[in-house]
Amino acid sequence: MSEPKKLFIKTYGCQMNVYDSERMAEALGGQGYVETKSPDEADMILLNTCHIREKAAEKVYSELGRFKGLKADKPDLKIGVAGCVAQAEGEEIMRRQPLVDLVVGPQSYHRLPEMEAKTRTGEKALDTDFPEEDKFEKLKNRPKAKRGPTAFLTVQEGCDKFCAFCVVPYTRGAEVSRPADRIIREAQDLVERGVREITLLGQNVNAYHGAGPNGDMTLAGLIWELNKVDGLERIRFTTSHPNDMDDALIEAHGTCEKLMPYLHLPVQSGSDKILKRMNRSHTAESYLRLIERIRAARPDILMSGDFIVGFPEETEEDFQATLDLVEEVKYGYAYSFKYSTRPGTPAAERPQVEAEVADERLQRLQAMITRHQRVIQDAMVGQTVSVLFEKPGRQPGQMVGKSEYLHAVHVTDADVASGDLRKVRVKSSGANSLGGELI
Ligand code: SAH
Ligand code: SF4
Ligand code: F3S
Repeated sequence: MSEPKKLFIKTYGCQMNVYDSERMAEALGGQGYVETKSPDEADMILLNTCHIREKAAEKVYSELGRFKGLKADKPDLKIGVAGCVAQAEGEEIMRRQPLVDLVVGPQSYHRLPEMEAKTRTGEKALDTDFPEEDKFEKLKNRPKAKRGPTAFLTVQEGCDKFCAFCVVPYTRGAEVSRPADRIIREAQDLVERGVREITLLGQNVNAYHGAGPNGDMTLAGLIWELNKVDGLERIRFTTSHPNDMDDALIEAHGTCEKLMPYLHLPVQSGSDKILKRMNRSHTAESYLRLIERIRAARPDILMSGDFIVGFPEETEEDFQATLDLVEEVKYGYAYSFKYSTRPGTPAAERPQVEAEVADERLQRLQAMITRHQRVIQDAMVGQTVSVLFEKPGRQPGQMVGKSEYLHAVHVTDADVASGDLRKVRVKSSGANSLGGELI
């Protein structure tokens, strides 16, 4: 028997890319590829890329440049670019970096086997279509290998919201929801393979409206169906848009036992003027009232969010409004980014904020977020949390997992295995994790 071919995949960007990379590895598994962690021994290298900010997109070219030596030593090595940069730049990638053999967009990677075969004949392969067929259906013959206790599951893809700064509607295409029965089947399959926590993914996951047995189902409906899956212990979802948080989903946070008390709900800015220019169609006030309702349903919910600072025409006063909003919400986690001009998006045409001004604001915002994060994490000391253990920690005898609030928690010298869900009393709060003892 011939040696299996080796595939090295490097993943950038959001969780959906992580999910897609797994699917790509499965698709190429049918072509005799097994995954490797080392690009040096690979027969095929795939970069699954992100286009959200300029830095992310540029990284791809510097990374590709580094494979020059490898390809010189091994002319049979095939190099592919997948993901959102592939979608946004297409053929241009091969022009800029001729060593690239294959470019495949996020909606056409189920065609990777044919594309790989084409590159083996010495041709280049490019596919950035938005095909009619459902790529997930084409990919459903999955290997039944065991896997870790947590998994992502894409339920909705694409976006119709067109925030003025964002490339996602262009790279991922229009919003599409997968039918509920296929999601449930996939969840059952994951559980059979050892998964106990599933994070439902979508660029606007709470806009989910997939076909169900009695017409379209909402995300809340889907969560209640998944709540019935035996062996599945935890459900999460990300990323949500404030305008799509319906009453049923808010209520589920109070009543659905498997739904975890954590919600990522990006607001982007606290200034109504900026929100309007971002085309966000919510105000700071409507967002705050929404969080009030969510907290009324689930008082201990941990909120997380995303922010952009230095959006075109953001003044110090606008930025102050963002700080005010953060002060009011107090996020357990929050991700903040300096605005990055994306060609082709409406905001790219607006007067830009000076880089130094944006940098300075970002620092102030991050300092505030870090302070809140700290207080919230430290307040866990003395509390009992439930931890889904995932893997050994850095210290000998340590096991780490996540609490329901997504804090990393470790215990030492305890009799726990990956996949165990146990109650833990929190004893200490460190830089990035909590320490505790099994109860
Ligand atoms: N669908 C999600 C997030 C998509 S992108 C949502 O609607 O919130 C993830 C985050 O990247 C965004 O929430 C935003 O904060 C940030 N982001 C998107 N475009 C950006 C840009 N041009 N510059 C800086 N940050 C950006
Ligand atoms: Fe981008 Fe806005 Fe869509 Fe989120 S809602 S993916 S930020 S366009
Ligand atoms: Fe990046 Fe595409 Fe995700 S642009 S954030 S990889 S949807």
